[in-house]
Amino acid sequence: MKAIRASFLDFVDDPFFAEERAAVRYVADGALVVDGDRIADFGAWPDIAARHRALQLAHFPDRLVLPGFVDTHVHYPQTEMIAAYGERLLEWLERYTFPTELRFRDRVHADRIADRFCDLLLASGTTTAQVFTTTFPQSVDALFEATSRRGMCVVAGLTGIDRPGSAPPEYLDTADGFYRDSKALIARWHGRERCRYAVTPRFALGSTREQLARCGQLLAEHPDVWVNTHMSENEAEIAQVAALFPEARDYLNVYERAGIVGPKFTAGHAVHLDDDAWRRMAAAGASVSFCPASNLFLGSGLFALEKAKRAAAPVPVGLGSDVGAGNSFCLLRVLDDAYKVAALRGQKLSAMKALFLATLGGARALHLDREIGSFEPGKFADFVVLDPRATPVMAQRADSPPPAGDAAQGSGHAHVDHAAFGLVALGDDRAVTATYVAGRQVYPRPTA
Ligand code: GUN
Ligand code: ZN
Repeated sequence: MKAIRASFLDFVDDPFFAEERAAVRYVADGALVVDGDRIADFGAWPDIAARHRALQLAHFPDRLVLPGFVDTHVHYPQTEMIAAYGERLLEWLERYTFPTELRFRDRVHADRIADRFCDLLLASGTTTAQVFTTTFPQSVDALFEATSRRGMCVVAGLTGIDRPGSAPPEYLDTADGFYRDSKALIARWHGRERCRYAVTPRFALGSTREQLARCGQLLAEHPDVWVNTHMSENEAEIAQVAALFPEARDYLNVYERAGIVGPKFTAGHAVHLDDDAWRRMAAAGASVSFCPASNLFLGSGLFALEKAKRAAAPVPVGLGSDVGAGNSFCLLRVLDDAYKVAALRGQKLSAMKALFLATLGGARALHLDREIGSFEPGKFADFVVLDPRATPVMAQRADSPPPAGDAAQGSGHAHVDHAAFGLVALGDDRAVTATYVAGRQVYPRPTA
């Protein structure tokens, strides 16, 4: 069997609620044993060495291994248009996004970008993602084929938008066409290898009542599929939704009325929710995707992480790059923005809480934590090997003593808090030494 020896960090509980030192598992000299696509054993190196003979060992001294990152909200058709200048959400959609996504009518183009997208995720340490596609069914096939070739776990679905005026006419689908195509795609992809299907109305502003009702019907007919959408991202968007759906008490209620809000529902952004909406999300068991890079880049607002993480009514939170509105695929950079959003809200986001969001937190938010998100034996061997000294500034920080008072972060391992916070505050894809999916190194691609 194969094994990786290095330092390891993962989570056995949610550090937002449990004591950090109880939630974090840090093994300074550890090993992860891989059998096929799964984790067979995990622990301190001397124990692993004693339990297993003849391991085929890859040793990464001075590296920190984390469970593969989980991006709970990203748009693969926007790969090419990352970092588009100067607009807020609605103008950004019209000016850059729909013209770019129209190109996915062409299957060859969709295949090319799906491959590029997957490779960018892996180079950023992301091994699982919940992904938006386009209104063109072949763009969904292109994505699932690309992730399957790499053995990746992915949640995705046809991304519906049928309201005239909300996108160029040639981009729109219809409520019935969306229903028919979604059914066929569920039959083709849901549960095949590591593919999971999400019924995906793009956002309330883009769907008619008929299309949202079709989403509810799909969910009633396929209760085990996921639901992925956007919600309450931008003030102008929210005002238009209120005008179009006067019968709904708020944005969330548009989705509630369609019968699609439940445990496998993820609302991307959720920047502008009142307490009542947070309470209803918690009661439904629904999740949110926190997309700080995007929320800053498009000037959408400051997500209230502390409201999602209220002990009385917690809402599971994953992290989303939201590329192309987010300007990085790498969740380390997204966490840097998460930290700063928290700071602007008078909050502190510790390194451990941050890394939880990017790993087990995301897996839990997507109800995939039985398969991924930590080093528990039996889970898929999806992990990322990180270099805390990847850049000159990271190296000089890593080699400096932790500042006095660093114990304030509270994992109980002051030097690990220091190293981990260096990754969060300074890290990016240069810190990714290698990425493994289902026990195989997929980045960098092994030569020969
Ligand atoms: N709302 C509807 N579509 C989109 C999108 O593509 N990106 C973001 N950030 N918000 C959206
Ligand atoms: Zn988005």
